[in-house]
Amino acid sequence: MAAEPMMLEVKDLSLAYGRRIVAEHISMTVGARECVALVGANGAGKSTVLKSMVGIHPQGGGSISYLGRDVTGWSSAAAVRSGVTLCPEGRHLFPGMSVRDNLLLGSVKTGASRAETRARLSEIEDLFPVLSERKNQLAGTLSGGQQQMVAIGRALMSGPSLLILDEPSLGLAPLLVERVFDIVTTILKKGCAVLIAEQNVQATLAIANRAYVMEAGRIVASGEASQLRTDPALLSAFMGIDAGS
Ligand SMILES: Nc1ncnc2c1ncn2[C@@H]1O[C@H](COP(=O)(O)OP(=O)(O)OP(=O)(O)O)[C@@H](O)[C@H]1O
Ligand SMILES: [Mg+2]
Repeated sequence: MAAEPMMLEVKDLSLAYGRRIVAEHISMTVGARECVALVGANGAGKSTVLKSMVGIHPQGGGSISYLGRDVTGWSSAAAVRSGVTLCPEGRHLFPGMSVRDNLLLGSVKTGASRAETRARLSEIEDLFPVLSERKNQLAGTLSGGQQQMVAIGRALMSGPSLLILDEPSLGLAPLLVERVFDIVTTILKKGCAVLIAEQNVQATLAIANRAYVMEAGRIVASGEASQLRTDPALLSAFMGIDAGS
């Protein structure tokens, strides 16, 4: 029997800002229902890699395939329509719009019918009851944690098969960090694959199946998350963190 194609496979990506190359020889895969972590120090190139996967940052070279189909150079609209959605670092909400309208923006151009949009909205409001309570409140007046819920909810409104999360716990208080990881676990249980970049390395490796470690624009290690998690030399060499933290 032929092996199922990987959900997402990038091969030998190279990425630049102008003439400055910030990532090279990036190859990675995400399988169906898998949780894959991308970790590394500040400025390693994680966000640029994630943005390139969904057509927000141009690819200088290399290829991307999705469910066995070559999608190299696809647009962000094509990625979302196909089921690959990025929840960006820094949330990028519309602060002067209501919570409900920010969420609804996530379903624009996805081809979802009104009934599907209503069903997704109700599923997301079940996942984040506070967003239902505050549906008419302006997004910019919410706390940081609530704004992160809106950002994740908006990404889920597109009905993704692969959710890419860039630093979802950044700047949140410890209790809210835990809540974000609980939410990611719930999303995984619903069958959605997750690719997650996070500074919170230990908590991320605890929920991930596999992980890639980036340093200065290269992937320098990869493997089972459970093994990387207990590799103090690796964690301190590439991320400057104490493996016990
Ligand atoms: N808009 C930009 N223009 C020019 N250079 C940029 C831009 N955005 C990022 N860079 C540079 O590209 C490199 C990779 O940045 P990137 O944001 O992808 O890293 P990161 O691993 O996500 O970092 P962080 O942990 O801070 O989120 C860094 O050297 C950064 O300074
Ligand atoms: Mg980043």
